Amino acid sequence: MTELAAPENIAFLLRWYAGHGIEDAIGETAIDRFAVPPPAASPAEAAPPAPAAGPVAGATPAASPAAPRPPRPAAPPAPAVARAPIPLESPQLVEDARGVAQRCTTVAELEAAVRAFEGCALKRTAKNTVFADGVVGAPVMIVGEAPGNDEDRQGKPFVGVSGQLLDRMFEAIGLSRARDLYITNILFWRPPGNRTPTLSEQATCMAFTRRHIELAKPKLVVLAGGTAAKSVLDTTEGIMRLRGKWQTLTLDDGSTVPALPTLHPAYLLRTPASKRQSWSDLLSVDARLRELGVR
Ligand code: URA
Repeated sequence: MTELAAPENIAFLLRWYAGHGIEDAIGETAIDRFAVPPPAASPAEAAPPAPAAGPVAGATPAASPAAPRPPRPAAPPAPAVARAPIPLESPQLVEDARGVAQRCTTVAELEAAVRAFEGCALKRTAKNTVFADGVVGAPVMIVGEAPGNDEDRQGKPFVGVSGQLLDRMFEAIGLSRARDLYITNILFWRPPGNRTPTLSEQATCMAFTRRHIELAKPKLVVLAGGTAAKSVLDTTEGIMRLRGKWQTLTLDDGSTVPALPTLHPAYLLRTPASKRQSWSDLLSVDARLRELGVR
């Protein structure tokens, strides 16, 4: 047994992975990344090498004046995951996502389109597409950030500890997931290790999220946390400035909906003193629903 494979070293490595948020195996077989040829960054780089750069497969090698090199060991067969490079994070993908989303005329069609969409790299590492939970057409639509581990496993948003807190918070103003809430995230796939989604990932999914809001037609939207608030409202303002202040969200079909940024329940779990601000935001939601004649 090599030193690295000693049980205590493997246990250490697993703890280290877990500490960095790497909690799930995403394939049955381990991949030796050092053996995978690096992907070409552009079609130009993906082109076969110029003849001078080395022998062309199938051709008889020309005699070279240089000293003969020792033969290179045969490359191991490329694993199934080594795919042709796809420009997953391009503006074109955002346009594609918009086009697909615009053609959907119901939430069910949009859900099917999101599940079939292959333009977001996060989908490759996620176990499930996490689309929404609650009641389509409910008066309150909650938009969070991204699925975590529990959500990825169950395929539903906000089902882990922060989701349980979210449910309790809304129950405190008499709103339930089974009757009054429709819940989604700005991302439909869990970012590996729960990292913050890149702007490009956000932009691609946002094309669907904006259409999602149009089609679900809530009376108001609650934006849970800074990432969701900034992304939906397209602002760089931080959540501490945004929270508790109603915004008017203008959608691509010209409709508008009131939107309230608030603190993310995961933040509240870490910073219980902020629950006071959160309570004030919930009361504001309650008051707005009454103004809108929903309650
Ligand atoms: N946090 C989020 O923003 N969304 C979820 O679905 C779960 C946790």
